[in-house]
Amino acid sequence: MSLLIKNGRVITATDDYVADIFIEGETVKAIGKNLPVKADKEMDATGKLVFPGGIDPHVHLDMPFMGTFSSDNYETGTRAALFGGTTMVIDFILQKQGNSLRAALEEWKGRSDNNCVGDYSFHMAVTDFNEDTKKEIREMIEQEGITSFKTFMAYKGALMIDDRQMVGLMQEVKKQGGLINVHATNGDMIDFLIARHRAEGKLSPLYHYLSQPEVTEAEASGRFADMANYTGCPGYIVHLTCEGALNAVRNATKRNQKVFVETCIQYLILDASLYEKNFEGAKWVMSPPLREKKDQETLWAGINQGLVQVVATDHCPFNWEQKLMGREDFSKIPNGHPAIENRMELLFSEGVNKGKITLNKYVEVTCTNPAKIFGMFPRKGTIAVGSDADIVIFDPEEKHTVSAKTHHMNVDYSGYEGWTLTGRVKTVLLRGKIAIDNNHCLVDKGYGKFIRRSKVSQTI
Ligand code: URP
Ligand code: ZN
Ligand code: ZN
Repeated sequence: MSLLIKNGRVITATDDYVADIFIEGETVKAIGKNLPVKADKEMDATGKLVFPGGIDPHVHLDMPFMGTFSSDNYETGTRAALFGGTTMVIDFILQKQGNSLRAALEEWKGRSDNNCVGDYSFHMAVTDFNEDTKKEIREMIEQEGITSFKTFMAYKGALMIDDRQMVGLMQEVKKQGGLINVHATNGDMIDFLIARHRAEGKLSPLYHYLSQPEVTEAEASGRFADMANYTGCPGYIVHLTCEGALNAVRNATKRNQKVFVETCIQYLILDASLYEKNFEGAKWVMSPPLREKKDQETLWAGINQGLVQVVATDHCPFNWEQKLMGREDFSKIPNGHPAIENRMELLFSEGVNKGKITLNKYVEVTCTNPAKIFGMFPRKGTIAVGSDADIVIFDPEEKHTVSAKTHHMNVDYSGYEGWTLTGRVKTVLLRGKIAIDNNHCLVDKGYGKFIRRSKVSQTI
């Protein structure tokens, strides 16, 4: 099967030009003006943007967490991602303390194998680092193509590791050519503040926010950067939200250290005033919590300064009934919010359209940098001859309204209900196949492939 996309405005992280793209099988075969080729199917992209399929490197699908499971499974989650222009996601496997990484991988395969509509990979969360786990790091990288290892400095008693384990893990991951991702907040401080608020009868969602002040994130981000610097291990801070944490990274760069930073779309465009809505604030109970307006400005600036390289979602949806588990106590509200389908359109509308970032930067932080940092470039993350034909055709003018009534995520509310956005995904190709066209999904579960990733070699 061959396909010719004609006359689109092709945007990559570095380029912006009008051209035709010829696709044969799963990959891009030629790019040029008025290509002299005959294809099985032609698509006219005149007036449209044509950019690489988005990569969301931070999602939680069908994940056991806080006494329940995130409500999107691998089918609904990857399909919703495709509707929103994201062709690949990286999900998190959670090791159970006392068990092996291998056992966790098998458990996650049991839920994901043959169930994905879009392409996917895994980070491996190490929640119990010991001599046995240490031996499995190499195996994960070399045999499984899982090259990034997630750590939690918070969620004490469940997922958190201490600094001793962190340093040991960093040494091994560096040796084997991997990367550490981190949820960088101070778990002990947060634990203390949660206990104090509960003891004082302060139980509404607002106290979720007040239990995780900026200092908890700034301190842990600095500590993580110091440990990464000491061990020489490549580090990636997930869902960074605030000025204090970004300043800790900025300081690390002064000794010529590279710490990769991801923020998420919600931290750029929502703020903590949403926690004043009594229990409705539970919709935005996530960790770290939403921050202040001044933090949003810091994050936009951080993107433009090259300090923030990735905009992800941390998609971790729960239905309202699940959120109600914390009706009487904020600490029991499952943490997370849905956005896998909204990221590309929200960032275009709020970022590019409002002049905060350029189109090239948009592609860089949503597609190219995730592919480079996580060992998939140039197969993924760009439009180039030889790359997978993961391509979005996007109408930059079309306006539409976000609603839980029309979204494809398996969750009964939207954190952006009623927002009118400018710019809409029209067609999505995944490895040369038309996956989404005019709001219809044309591929089935099982089409999504597990993508093995390389050791960390690309620097950005
Ligand atoms: O609230 C969040 N972020 N839920 C998902 C787990 C995590 O910390 O990323
Ligand atoms: Zn986290
Ligand atoms: Zn997460």
